[in-house]
Amino acid sequence: MALLELRLGTKPRDGLLTHECVWPIILLSRIDTITLDRERALMPNKTEKNLTYAFAAESKASARNSAFALKADHDGYPQIARLFWAVSEAESVHARRYLNFIRGKIGSTEENLEAAFQHEIKANVEEYPKLIKDASEEGMKSLAEAFSQSRDVEGRHADLYKKAMNDMLADRQSEYYVCQVCGYISENEAPENCPVCGSVKGRFKLVT
Ligand code: FE2
Ligand code: FE2
Ligand code: FE2
Repeated sequence: MALLELRLGTKPRDGLLTHECVWPIILLSRIDTITLDRERALMPNKTEKNLTYAFAAESKASARNSAFALKADHDGYPQIARLFWAVSEAESVHARRYLNFIRGKIGSTEENLEAAFQHEIKANVEEYPKLIKDASEEGMKSLAEAFSQSRDVEGRHADLYKKAMNDMLADRQSEYYVCQVCGYISENEAPENCPVCGSVKGRFKLVT
């Protein structure tokens, strides 16, 4: 920033975004974008591996802390729960930040919808069936049921993405309610009972 200010002969007043200092900021963000694009294109192997690791680890940390938050709430520690939620959110920030560095992972919204759809189909058709089979073979009945419900829910997610892809240009407003037990998503209203796990209406959460 200092270098740009010097070159352009402008200097922001303390804590204020003056008209003169807007230019360097725009330039800086363009330079950052160019640097990011270059780093993405020239990603060395070790860095790429580390980035993939960091993204997975931060994603897991976010999920783990959100589970800890629910438990703290359940145990009657609302303040501790808030801290777990805050850290969970922060780990998500880290995960998203790293995903941005991985080439080809975030495209246009149209491309992202297609990628998200393909991920759901893969989970529904290839990944979960194998997990269900292994869990069943090893006598893990309740886990097999959880995997099986997730497989069905991934199919539902795929349907919603497909619908969104078809409706992309239509001005359709939907609300989504998520089952807090199995992850099933209901459009516009929560059902009396979840069609996948049977949970009651009160277990659905409106996504805002
Ligand atoms: Fe983190
Ligand atoms: Fe899904
Ligand atoms: Fe459910």
